[in-house]
Amino acid sequence: MGGLLVEMEAISKDFPGVHALRDTRFELRAGEVHALVGENGAGKSTLMKILAGVYRRDAGRIRVKGTEVELASPRAAQLLGISIIHQELSLMPNLTVAQNIFIGREPHGRLPFLLNERALNKQARALFESMHLKLDPETKVAHLTVARQQMVEIAKALSYKAEVVIMDEPTAALTETEIDELFRIIRKLREDGVGVVHISHRLEELKRISDRVTVMRDGQYIATLETKDASLDRIISLMVGRTIYEAAPEIPATAHPEVVLEVRDLNRGRMVRDVSFSLRRGEILGLAGLVGAGRTEVARAIFGADRADSGTILVHGRPAHINSPADAVRYGIGYLSED
Ligand SMILES: Nc1ncnc2c1ncn2[C@@H]1O[C@H](COP(=O)(O)OP(=O)(O)O)[C@@H](O)[C@H]1O
Ligand SMILES: [Mg+2]
Repeated sequence: MGGLLVEMEAISKDFPGVHALRDTRFELRAGEVHALVGENGAGKSTLMKILAGVYRRDAGRIRVKGTEVELASPRAAQLLGISIIHQELSLMPNLTVAQNIFIGREPHGRLPFLLNERALNKQARALFESMHLKLDPETKVAHLTVARQQMVEIAKALSYKAEVVIMDEPTAALTETEIDELFRIIRKLREDGVGVVHISHRLEELKRISDRVTVMRDGQYIATLETKDASLDRIISLMVGRTIYEAAPEIPATAHPEVVLEVRDLNRGRMVRDVSFSLRRGEILGLAGLVGAGRTEVARAIFGADRADSGTILVHGRPAHINSPADAVRYGIGYLSED
């Protein structure tokens, strides 16, 4: 591992009514993959958006390779070699891969507005070769999977000579094969001395890919550990703090005995295994678990947003055949997603 690329100290940031970050710090070395973990709302994205020039900090200092910097805009961060790949990808679907990478700085042909496509594609091809990535620069982005789009975003970051690449939950929408490919690229970046920040909900992943892990909770810095010395139990307990179980006031049971929804042995991929429960009329049923436990996946499978592998869903006691959200709606099921 190389020298210090980034040092963030005493960073604070408020949004109206929220202390998103309080006196937080973070450090990134050249050639390391640094996982940033914490429960939803811990402040991970906000901290990294400050590093990428998307948000301005209210207080604190940031040094890049030892020099104090302002990071007033994404462009300013980019010029310092800092690139962020957001959770929501930001490519133009109707442009080609190469056009997306070089947008705004295309080598022009003799006529204005006439792009020199050949030069663009050639540059993109060279970039992909350096990443050992098989990707056709002339494909329209709309035809790529989310994983491939992410590769394009990474290539774009590298085309700006990024030394710091921040990935905000890059694996959330990827299949396992796609995650393998992403990790191969991340390892290649590490070999080339790039510092990578990896934000993920999936804790077993950080064991596979990261060198160090920083834990945040409630906008605060909690700890930085060498991944090889940190058990998942230890990381989880740092994430959730000590007060895991808070006594809540007893809520009187008001539910009607009638069961409106019953789920039996629902299975879907690796995340949902043999889930069974029943929901009564007038009842509010909580699905509890840590991030990554599969709660959303259960809801999506019931709603038909993802097709269940096996299991039975009964609505008002009768088996329901739900293969799509439209089917679920016909059975009177609604779904509000977390975002
Ligand atoms: N643009 C924003 N406006 C207002 N509040 C925000 C904004 N972005 C984040 N927050 C709040 O700041 C806190 C930290 O959020 P975030 O950095 O997104 O956490 P994480 O990425 O760890 O889930 C949360 O309480 C969130 O609701
Ligand atoms: Mg986030």
